[in-house]
Amino acid sequence: MPTLSSATLALALLLAPALVVAQPSSSAPAKTKNTSFKPGELWYDTDGNLINAHGGGVLLVGKTYYWYGEKRAQHQEQGVTVYSSKDLYNWKYEGVALTPSADPQHDIAAGCLMERPKVIYNAKTKQYVMWFHLELKGQGYKAARAGVAVSDKPTGPFRYVSSFRPNGHMSRDMGLFVDDDGAAYHVYSSRENYDLRLARLSDDYLTATAQDTMLFSNHREAPALFKTGGKYYLITSGCTGWDPNEASVHVATSLLGPWQPLGDPITGPNAKLTFGGQSTYVLPVAGRKDAFIFMADRWNPKDLKDSRYLWLPVQFKNNQPSIKWLDAWDLTFFNKQL
Ligand code: DGJ
Repeated sequence: MPTLSSATLALALLLAPALVVAQPSSSAPAKTKNTSFKPGELWYDTDGNLINAHGGGVLLVGKTYYWYGEKRAQHQEQGVTVYSSKDLYNWKYEGVALTPSADPQHDIAAGCLMERPKVIYNAKTKQYVMWFHLELKGQGYKAARAGVAVSDKPTGPFRYVSSFRPNGHMSRDMGLFVDDDGAAYHVYSSRENYDLRLARLSDDYLTATAQDTMLFSNHREAPALFKTGGKYYLITSGCTGWDPNEASVHVATSLLGPWQPLGDPITGPNAKLTFGGQSTYVLPVAGRKDAFIFMADRWNPKDLKDSRYLWLPVQFKNNQPSIKWLDAWDLTFFNKQL
């Protein structure tokens, strides 16, 4: 039987720590089943790849949630991705729902920006309708348009329909909201982001109607609108590019206003900078009363694909939305609230 020479043994001992270090790093695929939300950490899909869905929103179809977001390379925008989940913790990659066009003359030519995509379902046309903030290739943030795309399946592929400035108004950061009566609205930053506007959509959800109101004019963006207890709440951020700033929330009993400012809903350490994030959507948890998840992006402008997801529960304190930091939490948090 061969014996190890002392030289071989010494070499093996020398290499041993290196072998230990050569374990999978944090960026390597990790296929674990999630049972909680860990805001700001690396979030993997069920294939073990990092989730790439920034500035996103979520749509519930039956018992399945679909999360749409910006697919980012280091800087470049690469279309809109879609992921599905039944439990909100574990997300299956469903592909690129809206792909940039290879035609350089196209509105959504590769190299354009499609930011903050949101999808709603139109029961009359049986179509999934996506709206997003479109900036034309090579024009920075000058075009300020809303883009629209449709699909007959939540996973796409979505077909580009058109883009425009709603009623002639500049349109940058945006969200969509469907009211209890099925009427849908586009809430958007306008006039170089000084005005926040709300336009009612046409019955097919493909265009903005002339019912288009200025909600308030205090330089806000990243709108996230939700409704509970007969009241509408609108969380927004300030306008500081990719840098975080202070959030605010407004309340109204009618979408058309008046909208009353309620101050900053974020509480605790680093609240003044929204925990380093910026609002994108408020997600109603199915089957639970008053259970809403505040979704925000902690942008990393040096590597946009590595921007992190901050999902936190919205609590109601004195009838006002309140959001505190939690390193890890799960949906039972909402049980404890009752
Ligand atoms: C802030 C917006 O909220 C983001 O969606 C993005 O457009 C950045 N500005 C770009 O600086």
